[in-house]
Formats: sequence, C-alpha cells, structure tokens
Amino acid sequence: MTNNNYVRIFDTTLRDGEQSPGATMTSAEKLEVAHNLARLGVDIIEAGFPAASPDDLEAVRRIALEVGNPAHPESEARVPVIAGLARANKPDIDKAWEAVQGAKKPRIHTFLATSPIHMKHKLKMDPEEVIQRVSEMVTYAKSLCADVEFSPEDAGRSEPEFLYVVLGEAIKAGATTLNIPDTVGYTTPDEFYALIDGIIKHTPGMHDGITVSVHCHDDLGLATANTLAGIRAGARQAEVTMNGIGERAGNTSLEEVVMALKTRHPVFGLDTGIETQQLSRISKLVSNYTGIVVQPNKAIVGSNAFAHEAGIHQDGMLKHQSTYEIMRPEDVGVNQTNLVLGKHSGRAALRNRLAEMGHSLDDVELDKAFARFKDLADRKKVITDLDLEALIADEFYKPRDVYLLSGLQVTSGTMGMPTATVRLRGPDGVIHTVATIGTGPVDATYKAIDQIVSVPCTLLEFNIHAITEGIDALGEVTVRIQSESGATTMDAQSEVEYVRVYGGHGADSDIIVASAKAYINALNKLIVAQTEGKGKVPNDFGVMLG
Ligand code: KIV
Ligand code: ZN
Repeated sequence: MTNNNYVRIFDTTLRDGEQSPGATMTSAEKLEVAHNLARLGVDIIEAGFPAASPDDLEAVRRIALEVGNPAHPESEARVPVIAGLARANKPDIDKAWEAVQGAKKPRIHTFLATSPIHMKHKLKMDPEEVIQRVSEMVTYAKSLCADVEFSPEDAGRSEPEFLYVVLGEAIKAGATTLNIPDTVGYTTPDEFYALIDGIIKHTPGMHDGITVSVHCHDDLGLATANTLAGIRAGARQAEVTMNGIGERAGNTSLEEVVMALKTRHPVFGLDTGIETQQLSRISKLVSNYTGIVVQPNKAIVGSNAFAHEAGIHQDGMLKHQSTYEIMRPEDVGVNQTNLVLGKHSGRAALRNRLAEMGHSLDDVELDKAFARFKDLADRKKVITDLDLEALIADEFYKPRDVYLLSGLQVTSGTMGMPTATVRLRGPDGVIHTVATIGTGPVDATYKAIDQIVSVPCTLLEFNIHAITEGIDALGEVTVRIQSESGATTMDAQSEVEYVRVYGGHGADSDIIVASAKAYINALNKLIVAQTEGKGKVPNDFGVMLG
C-alpha cells in the first residue's frame, strides 16, 4: 500500500458536488472550474458522471482534452488525472472511458454498494453477486484503462470483513485505488480510523501500488474529522469538494482538509500539492457558478473566517497577529491590503493587481475589465481586491449571454407603485423593452424580465450582500431558479431523475442592476440547457447547434 508523506487531493466538485440538486453548472463553467482546479494543484479531477446525459459526457470529454493534457511537455508532471464515474455496468464504464480517454492520465472510477441495507433494498443483490459483479466490472474497466478506482458505496455501514473480500477482488481485478466512502455521513472519527486501519491490514493482496482513499459526507458535520482520521490511519487520497458542496449536507471540503494538514503539519507530517493562496478565489468562483452561497462563518473561505470584530480579539490582534489567528489570511489568498486601486490607476496597475490575485487576462479581457474598473472608480473612491474579484466574476464568470441587460430604470418608495422598465438584447440581436409594476423594485424588474424572456421558472432563492463596507459598496446578488418544464439529469447513486436548478450571479454598485444581472444570468443558463440540440442558440462553447 502506498504509504508516503504525500496526500493526493481528488476533487469531486464537478461530480459529487455538481450532481447534488441545485449546484448545476453549464459545460463552459465546468471547464473553467476544471482549469482552476488544475491551477490549484489538485492531483485528480473527477470531471463528472458521463452516463447521466450526453451533455455530461461531452463536458467530461472537453475537460479531459483541454485540462487533462499538458500545455507544454515540461508541465506534464503537473497535469491532473481526469476521472469519470461509472456504475458497475458495461454501458456506464464504456461512457466513462469514451469521456476520459482523451486525457493524458485518464481514470475510470466505478462503484457498487456493499452495505446490507444497500445490497438488499437498492441493488436487490446478494453478497455473492456483489463480489462477482465487482470482479467482472473492475476487470472490464481495466481492459480499457490502466488506472481504475473502485468504491464500495456505503462502506461506512458495511461489514468490515465483507469489505476486505470485495476490496481483495477489486485488487485482483486490477484496481489501483480503493476509495472508502462514508456515503451517508454516519461514522465517527474513531470508527472511520478503525475501518481504514482494518482495510489496510486485512485486505488480501494489499500492496505498495495500491492507494487507499477516503470519501466522506457531512451529515453529522464530521466529514473533515473523518477524512483526517482516515488519513491518519494510512489513506493517501482524500476525495473532497470546494466549499464542501455535495449531496445533502455536502462532501468533505477541500480547503478544510488541506489547511488542517498544512497548519497542523507537526501533527500529521503530511503534504499536499495544493497552492493554498488560490483557495479563496476558487471558492468564490464555485459559489458564483453554482449559486450556492458560502456561509459567512465557513472555515477557511467564509467571509468572517479572518474577521476579528469582537473588541477583545481586535486588541489581541493589534498586539500580535498570532494571538487569534492560526493561519495567515494571505496563505489562503485573502489579501489584507485593502486600499488597492483608485480613479487614477492605469491599465498596467490593474493588470498587475489582477495577476497578483491569480487572474491572467488577455488584452481583450483586460480592456473589458478596465472599462468596468473605470466605471466603478467613478462611483467608488477606493477599489479593493474584493471589488475586483466581484467585477471579474461579473464580467467573465458567467454563462453565454443569450439575453443581455442593456437598460434598466426603476422607481420605488412609499409614494407610488414600484415600477421597472427593462431593456434586454435578445439572442436575435433585437432589443425588447417592457415596463411593469411589482411589490418592490426587484419584483417589478423580475416581472419585466419574465415577460421578455418568457421561460416559466420558479425563483427558489435570492441572496444579496455588500461586498465591502461603506455606503458606496458593490452589491452582490446570487439567485437560484428552477425550470417549470426543465432539463433533468440523473443522480449516479440514487438513480433518481431530478430537475436541474440553475444559479446566477451579478455584481454592481446599484443593487437592482446586480439583481437583474443575477436573474438574467440564471435564465441564460436555463435557456442554453433547454435549447441545446434544438439549434436555437449557441451552446456554451460558442458552437451553433442543430
Ligand atoms: O458517496 C459515495 O458513496 C460516492 C461514491 C460514488 C464514491 O459518491
Ligand atoms: Zn459521495
């Protein structure tokens, strides 16, 4: 069994994270996230579940080709493995292989449940049949791909002795990574330590070429603790997601495991390849794309994670930073320099600052960012890193513009009916203008947008917050909408078809404009998903379909 001091980070934001209802990303967003995960330094990207739908397969294929191949021969060592998930059947495995084979380092990840509850009620298979199927399907996957990972689903509630047998068969059939999922977040750290320890000690055929991996869910809030316990027991791969997004209460969060290993290095004595200064930026990117807001008190990436508001803390912090801070904000990419740029800063200064923050823009992108920056600088005296992040997200991290906001005027207050006049440029280039009244300015704006776009949907969530302090702060809005007649996808494990939920994000110093942008953004995603294949609008990659 591999037992060195390096823990591989297997990121499943784009599979277990994205598959959870409500975290839908478009193909272009998935590609962008995958590029950023590669820059972050993750070792393996699980890019999706290709059997879920042709779109899912295509998104994994693009990631395999574009992110899974080195730009230059010398960067090959840093190219991540690209994994595709497959249930333990031939059609799924074929689809996973079709999707990942273009990567320099492809992996097929196949799984089958091993707990008594799952075998009896979900699979309706007896233990002997499960052993047989694992052996056959791992052998089949191995005939296609040299790198095969096997997961006994619901391992946390499986009989350890049965797991040893199943995992022994998987090794015999050619699996080189054995991933142990606590699928329903049931175990405690002591139990999970014992489970991993037992697997390492008792699985027949365990050898140095096998990596034991851990994959925990957070139903009892123990995912990070369980993952770290598994690592202490000898696991050398951790399956995680950015911001801990995932089914139900989520998966283990990447940033928590990585920063625990780094901050408590003397305790664990283990390293990862993660460039931790990228964490904050990528957390934001994933939050904007999914529409899933990061709670302010979230460890490592929450907006309060490095804020010290209580007077006693501030006093201590002023005396010495280490009194209340166990990590430096800059280690996770939260920059302390607040006063960054102002009205008189030029293009070069903006380019430099953005590069320091991890955004390398080409000339055309820089032109767009500079125009937005100047516009904001006219309205806001100092522009901070947080403002710049929001501006970049608003300008670049958004779906293809099917509808584009080209004008907005609202009246509101106690003296009359809140009214919004909205002007949108449609996919055919035609400008549509509609005026409506509503219960408030956002309601009126959304009603006007609905009249123009005419796609029935339900607004599930609307969040607004100020990015920085002060009356001239940028407002940031995230929304989540669900189509009333929408595209569905299939969950890999429950095999349930569910209607996708789309997130949208917008930022502006005018909060009604930010609200309109966020809603249009989400609607654009929904429209792209619904019309893909019908030749009406360009897909995420700018290709006319049909
Ligand atoms: O939680 C789980 O069991 C999974 C497997 C497919 C690895 O996500
Ligand atoms: Zn999972």
